[in-house]
Amino acid sequence: MEPTAELLFYVNGRKVIEKNVDPETMLLPYLRKKLRLTGTKYGCGTGGCGACTVMISRYTPTTKRISHHAANACLIPICSLYGASVTTIEGIGSTKTRIHPVQERIAKCHGTQCGFCTPGMVMSIYTLLRNHPEPSLEQIMEALGGNLCRCTGYRPIIDACKTFCKTSGCCQSKENGVCCLDQGINELTEFEEGNKTSTKLFSEEEFLPLDPTQELIFPPELMIMAEKQPQRTRIFVGDRMTWISPTTLTELLEVKFNYPQAPVVMGNTSVGPEMKFKGVFHPVIISPAGIEELNFATCSHNELTLGAGLSLTQVKYILGEVIQNLPEEKTRMYQALLKHLRTLAGSQIRNMASLGGHIVSRHLDSDLNPLLAVGNCTLNLLSKKGKRQVPLNEEFLRRCPSADLKPEEILISVNIPHSRKWEFVSGFRQAQRQQNALAIVNSGMRVFFGEGDGIIRELCISYGGVGPTTVCAKNSCQKLIGRPWNEEMLDAACRLVLDEVTLPGSAPGGRVEFKRTLIISFLFKFYLEVLQFLKRMDPAHSPSLADKDASALEDLHSRHHSSTLKYQSVDSKQLPQDPIGHPIMHLSGIKHATGEAIYCDDMPTVDQELFLSFVTSSRAHAKIVSIDLSEALSLPGVVDIVTEEHLRGVNSFSIFTNPEELLRTEEVSCVGQLVCAVIAESEVQAKRAAERVKVVYEDLQPLILTIEEAIQHSSFFEPERKLEYGNVDEAFKGVDQILEGEIHMGGQEHFYMETQSMLVVPKGEDQEIDVYVSTQYPKYIQDIVASTLKLPANKVMCHVKRVGGAFGGKIFKTGILAAITAFAANKHGRAVRCVLERGEDMLITGGRHPYLGKYKAGFMNDGRIVALDMEHYSNGGASLDESLIVIEMGLLKMENAYKFPNLRCRAWACKTNGPSNTALRGFGFPQVGLITESCITEVAARCGLAPEKVRTINMYKEIDQTPYKQEINAKNLIQCWKECMAKSSYTLRKAAVEKFNSKNYWKKKGLAVVPLKFPIGLGSITLSQAAALVHIYLDGSVLVTHGGIELGQGVHTKMIQVVSRELRMPMSNIHLRGTSTETVPNTNSSGGSVVADVNGLAVKDACQTLLKRLEPIISKNPQGTWKDWAQAAFDESISLSATGYFRGYESDMNWETGEGHPFHYFVYGAACSEVEIDCLTGAHKNIRTDIVMDIGYSINPALDIGQIEGAFIQGVGLYTIEELQYSPQGVLHTRGPNQYKIPAVCDIPTELHISFLPPSESSNTLYSSKGLGESGLFLGCSVFFAIHDAVNAARRERGLSGPLKLNSPLTPEKIRMACEDKFTKMIPRDKPGSYIPWNVPL
Ligand SMILES: Cc1cc2nc3c(=O)[nH]c(=O)nc-3n(C[C@H](O)[C@H](O)[C@H](O)COP(=O)(O)OP(=O)(O)OC[C@H]3O[C@@H](n4cnc5c(N)ncnc54)[C@H](O)[C@@H]3O)c2cc1C
Ligand code: FES
Ligand code: FES
Repeated sequence: MEPTAELLFYVNGRKVIEKNVDPETMLLPYLRKKLRLTGTKYGCGTGGCGACTVMISRYTPTTKRISHHAANACLIPICSLYGASVTTIEGIGSTKTRIHPVQERIAKCHGTQCGFCTPGMVMSIYTLLRNHPEPSLEQIMEALGGNLCRCTGYRPIIDACKTFCKTSGCCQSKENGVCCLDQGINELTEFEEGNKTSTKLFSEEEFLPLDPTQELIFPPELMIMAEKQPQRTRIFVGDRMTWISPTTLTELLEVKFNYPQAPVVMGNTSVGPEMKFKGVFHPVIISPAGIEELNFATCSHNELTLGAGLSLTQVKYILGEVIQNLPEEKTRMYQALLKHLRTLAGSQIRNMASLGGHIVSRHLDSDLNPLLAVGNCTLNLLSKKGKRQVPLNEEFLRRCPSADLKPEEILISVNIPHSRKWEFVSGFRQAQRQQNALAIVNSGMRVFFGEGDGIIRELCISYGGVGPTTVCAKNSCQKLIGRPWNEEMLDAACRLVLDEVTLPGSAPGGRVEFKRTLIISFLFKFYLEVLQFLKRMDPAHSPSLADKDASALEDLHSRHHSSTLKYQSVDSKQLPQDPIGHPIMHLSGIKHATGEAIYCDDMPTVDQELFLSFVTSSRAHAKIVSIDLSEALSLPGVVDIVTEEHLRGVNSFSIFTNPEELLRTEEVSCVGQLVCAVIAESEVQAKRAAERVKVVYEDLQPLILTIEEAIQHSSFFEPERKLEYGNVDEAFKGVDQILEGEIHMGGQEHFYMETQSMLVVPKGEDQEIDVYVSTQYPKYIQDIVASTLKLPANKVMCHVKRVGGAFGGKIFKTGILAAITAFAANKHGRAVRCVLERGEDMLITGGRHPYLGKYKAGFMNDGRIVALDMEHYSNGGASLDESLIVIEMGLLKMENAYKFPNLRCRAWACKTNGPSNTALRGFGFPQVGLITESCITEVAARCGLAPEKVRTINMYKEIDQTPYKQEINAKNLIQCWKECMAKSSYTLRKAAVEKFNSKNYWKKKGLAVVPLKFPIGLGSITLSQAAALVHIYLDGSVLVTHGGIELGQGVHTKMIQVVSRELRMPMSNIHLRGTSTETVPNTNSSGGSVVADVNGLAVKDACQTLLKRLEPIISKNPQGTWKDWAQAAFDESISLSATGYFRGYESDMNWETGEGHPFHYFVYGAACSEVEIDCLTGAHKNIRTDIVMDIGYSINPALDIGQIEGAFIQGVGLYTIEELQYSPQGVLHTRGPNQYKIPAVCDIPTELHISFLPPSESSNTLYSSKGLGESGLFLGCSVFFAIHDAVNAARRERGLSGPLKLNSPLTPEKIRMACEDKFTKMIPRDKPGSYIPWNVPL
């Protein structure tokens, strides 16, 4: 067969003809690099984040229909696009032409922060609107299910999308048939509202209407091509791979016969990731294109036949229709499949993945195969030799040669029999996150009874997630045939299944006891469902479901999404032009939404640019015996490999006082350390060569991974820190009770959506070098690069336009990466780019410190804690980084909102062979706060008091003193607490929760409220100094620069608001280009909640200097314009440029005496959360959260609310689902969104209410505002304690007394295992030490 001359498809209405197509190229790099359409972002490369979402449209000549679907460009091979039309974010609207209503609304509703996820979000909604111009809220939630955002907390995105719903503004609740707006549910006010509040952050009236006629039309050429052009096999030949796309079934069979080993790529969602991450390579790929025989559905009187080429979305629709049209009894299998299809992956993956690909891949966690396997389904196979049928049974799933496809065979379709009268089918799954997460265990179950006799005639049970593929409990089922459906049968079934479906203690994926429990918990659910079914079928002879058990079958309750926001309106006396206090949209909002905002890797390629890829250590503690570079160096395109030898003399840089090595060549002390760096002409070449670098290691002892191991080996970074107040030892003598406990808290990955990225450009003159980098700390990058290149700092300029999320993770590690990249660039005199893949980023950069908190509390029976002795151990990892400052801040913030009259707390940063952990939003506070709150919760339990009571009793009273003897006025803390209790109707809802719990044995609700006192300040005046530079040009326009970095928090927007107020000019007159060490030198790191505070004071200072200079000119011509004044000043030789400076907040802390004034002010708040848990599966639902915050005078309520809710959701992730897993050898298992689950749109509380205290007093901060970047994160632990409350309720009902020890994150596994019952008792337990676990908690 002749290769096809060219690949033809359309992008944004323009024809693309690719003559030399490489079949290995995916659409995402093609768009970004080749077509320079950089609006589509790389977030993970694995289909898990949605940042790369585009719309794919196709025309089908037989139906004459055009279909549009959202898809992940990172998994679409370009060869699969022949004849398709691709729409990217650039294609739907731009600031240069016309912005699309979706783009406008997501920006104006404040749905963007860093903006990196925004193009993907917009494309998901845009595609939904193309198919459903007036979508329901359910459709919106479904469309957003495959898109992750790390900044916003999703609420504003949902609000923006809701404006397209027909019933916009309404929750669309069907409960009682009444909408939330009429139920008064948001007006549970036990508390007087302050006046002068606003509730709207945007005005719907100004939105452009959605006009479907304005959309890009499907290219007529592609329609004609599809109609007229003879369809024949297309072949594209690359260097290493050949792509064959047969267009008829006969051709497909012929090609498969000729290339039996070649995979049949449909959605590429299984083959793609396998090739990328598992080293699988296919020289030939067969990809059927539009073959009708694979894309059909027929429904006969006894079965449904689905073509193997149908996408999972199409299968979903077809099942929906079939269920509507057939009698209920025939549809039970279809209902079960449909239920799973709703949560399987995100909508993009469901649009791409095919039924055939799903079945044939036989993934161990496949959601559909366990159901199909119990359903007597058959697979229709075809090859050149003829057709045959094989059952979709255990043998097929185990790939037994006799039951499998032959290499030359194609799966054409699958027959799924209708269910019968006395047959019942159900499916179950539990994942780390409710949606878009592979199941930990899933199951398909089917039973068939004899007519009216309740005797089991057929029983089939299969499980996913418990073996290398779907596992069928065949023998157990066989033994149960002939038995009646009763409790004895259930008991026998559980024991039989546990015997048959066994999991060794060291099973891959870990969570072994949880999986065992789920196996029988699902069985129990099935048992109850069937009982209910039998009762329905034969009410007279079947027993009723016990009242107690009814709740096992209900879904977790939830309302539709609704939110209320309340903030202070600006003073009526404020000038109308003054933007301070107004909810101004993020100034890059529209650019985020149109994809025009430029991030580091969006910068065009520089002439002769090279790419750098790192080789990292695969051992946690080892000597490097040898490094063999020869094979890598011999590969095409490889220019150099930088090793420690090249860096001799400059291979380390001091962070604080401890030197950190850049590259390792002698010894490695954790997995992911940088060993060497390959520089090549292209990214692909650099990556391929990096894989060929051979490093031989010799393991060293000891291997210290966990905090406990570090304690055992006394492996700590120096010095130990201590804080002491009162007389602890003495105080213990007078208390009623003493308790000792501990809590472990896992780490957290930053998961900024933009991975570490940099481009270093040597200028070729005077040794100047420009570093474009995604960092929070340009001055540090400048220093480390200058030191590595042995250059003075004035030769190295670092530029940051914006950062796609950072959260503390783009400071020191970024510096190391940049230093090596700069070294390579300097050495070769060529620009070098380095962009980490998600997996590399997660492996290399570390994250939040895991903590172990030990406490001894002495308290009175009324709940007063009189003495507290605590120990904090953080897992610092292999190098110091910021670990010491994290434990210091942890100590200074550990008491949260409480006055402990006698307190001792000591803290150690453990030195381990884990990744070097670093700053992450909250900087130690989220960990230590949780430890303190856990201790309080336990004290409450011991006293028999409600936790909120013990919290109130121990809270700071108005004027008080912290443990380090800083004065504090906690009036607003108490106010927040009271308002939160009132606004959440705590007392009423507590009673409602108790009532619910008393009626529901298997579902429990929990409610918890936590206070917040978050100290603001960096502990040193030097670290909070800031500078700014303001120029006024002769046309009256202003350019402002300052030392802060735009990380998504909107600091540049706030700075422009500041200039606007100070110079009394409209914001449109003011511009901000980005941050650079060239304009503002010696800046501090952007972090610690103070970026807008301190830089704003510097900007204000610069503006005031200018105003002072210009005052005489302005007063001479008060009616003049800025243009007039600037010209007049110029004519009088008055400088129109000024620097501004802020010295920093006075602060000090003496660790010798334990006294000081480290903080400038405190942010206060409180949050109340309600959850519901499923005691049988460990699932939980965040039902409602109320947050009250004291934020002073808000500069921009939209941005401030965004910071609070975004941080809150990040906290919810930290405390509930984000779980890093490491092997016992210290290798990180969780290296992408498919393994590590950050909150998705399904995780936000369905009801969210945020309100601010009216500002009470002026302060010397920027316009009396407060910094809010971090504080809200801790409030996420209200969800942790609400779950704790629910678990406690379950345990109490089960007669389990004694303290409840729950570590963080409170995952489904921990919830389920804590709700002990007969099933948790039934499972086999492995003796600790008798097996090597798959993962260890660091
Ligand atoms: C981000 C992400 C999330 C996911 N989440 C889930 C989830 O929650 N639950 C779940 O169950 N699954 C999940 N999956 C897995 C997904 O369901 C499968 O990858 C998908 O169904 C495979 O279909 P495909 O068309 O993309 O297969 P492809 O990758 O195109 O092909 C897979 C295999 O099937 C073979 N094949 C395909 N069609 C035929 C045919 N007609 N005849 C013979 N052989 C054929 C190919 O040769 C190949 O070996 C997820 C995947 C991703 C990437
Ligand atoms: S980059 Fe494609 S889904 Fe994440
Ligand atoms: S705005 Fe969504 S990831 Fe930053």
